[in-house]
Amino acid sequence: MTEVNLMTEASAAPAVTKPHLPDAQTVTQVRHWTDRLFSFRVTRPQSLRFRSGEFVMIGLLNEHGKPLLRAYSIASPAWDEELEFYSIKVPDGPLTSKLQHIQVGDEIILRPKPVGTLVHDALLPGKRIYFLSTGTGFAPFASLLREPETYEKYEEVIMMHTCREVAELDYGRQLVESLQDDPLIGEMMAGKLKYYPTTTREPFHHMGRVTDNLSSGKVFADLGLPKMNPEEDRAMVCGSLAFNVDVKAILEGFGLVEGANSDPRQFVVEKAFVGDGI
Ligand SMILES: Cc1cc2nc3c(=O)[nH]c(=O)nc-3n(C[C@H](O)[C@H](O)[C@H](O)COP(=O)(O)OP(=O)(O)OC[C@H]3O[C@@H](n4cnc5c(N)ncnc54)[C@H](O)[C@@H]3O)c2cc1C
Ligand SMILES: NC(=O)c1ccc[n+]([C@@H]2O[C@H](COP(=O)([O-])OP(=O)(O)OC[C@H]3O[C@@H](n4cnc5c(N)ncnc54)[C@H](OP(=O)(O)O)[C@@H]3O)[C@@H](O)[C@H]2O)c1
Repeated sequence: MTEVNLMTEASAAPAVTKPHLPDAQTVTQVRHWTDRLFSFRVTRPQSLRFRSGEFVMIGLLNEHGKPLLRAYSIASPAWDEELEFYSIKVPDGPLTSKLQHIQVGDEIILRPKPVGTLVHDALLPGKRIYFLSTGTGFAPFASLLREPETYEKYEEVIMMHTCREVAELDYGRQLVESLQDDPLIGEMMAGKLKYYPTTTREPFHHMGRVTDNLSSGKVFADLGLPKMNPEEDRAMVCGSLAFNVDVKAILEGFGLVEGANSDPRQFVVEKAFVGDGI
């Protein structure tokens, strides 16, 4: 893997890590997308098994030598030999104020106990699946879009991702563009994936909140799809709490019922973060 490090700030302050931590993994790639978004890859513990869409706890040692851990969706698919993460940079955030400075060769802590609701097992079979996200809520879908099961289970996959500005869509756009050349799923996903990125505060070819584009029927009209219905459609939702609450109400309005690992239904929801946003 080549290191792509576009922002000069990345080399400013070293991350607070110590070699040979328990559960340590080594950073293999870092890429900064905007001044508030970056992605990175780390080595994968040999024992780690997870389902595409799940999250784990990762972090660094704090100044007192204690682990400072946060939940992170694994953005890479279950078959990948490394693990990828897509992260916010919270300027005064306890973890990400330091994590944003990691470089290739640094170590992070990764607790190998994956969990989460955004997994195929939590949904009943259907014809189409909608992945609905804002901001870093794209991360679990970066995993699921690279998961062969997604294309085996569904005839159509609709990826909706909304950010305020165009540059904030770049990680998702480049990932979607890379899929057609992926030797594992390029052929499987041909003609199945409909990508619908939108912005809300900067001009773009498609604009508007996910909620508004679902409620108005605009996304269905633009993509030539029928209105969402519980017989054919399934959905996974990942964004801020406000986004999740609003999308859930809309999906229920279409007749879809929320499911869980233990009780598969028509849609599942997971928080992209706790709080109101930075
Ligand atoms: C199930 C789950 C999965 C998560 N997956 C990811 C992920 O894949 N990528 C990721 O960047 N974060 C993810 N998070 C959020 C993550 O756990 C941390 O909150 C984030 O890394 C910031 O940590 P911090 O210590 O710097 O600040 P914190 O003290 O954790 O957060 C400070 C404030 O920043 C805001 N904030 C935190 N995270 C975000 C975010 N992602 N987008 C916008 N505002 C945010 C919130 O208002 C929060 O109160 C996830 C959270 C949960 C619960
Ligand atoms: N994004 C930036 O450029 C930026 C820069 C600096 C600081 N911040 C701060 O960071 C925090 C988080 O910003 P963010 O852009 O990552 O996340 P966000 O505020 O959750 O917005 C992300 C996207 O989700 C949309 N959205 C928000 N609430 C929604 C809801 N209930 N239903 C449907 N769509 C919804 C937003 O549309 P709307 O635009 O219509 O709200 C936006 O397109 C904010 O407090 C902000 O002040 C953001």
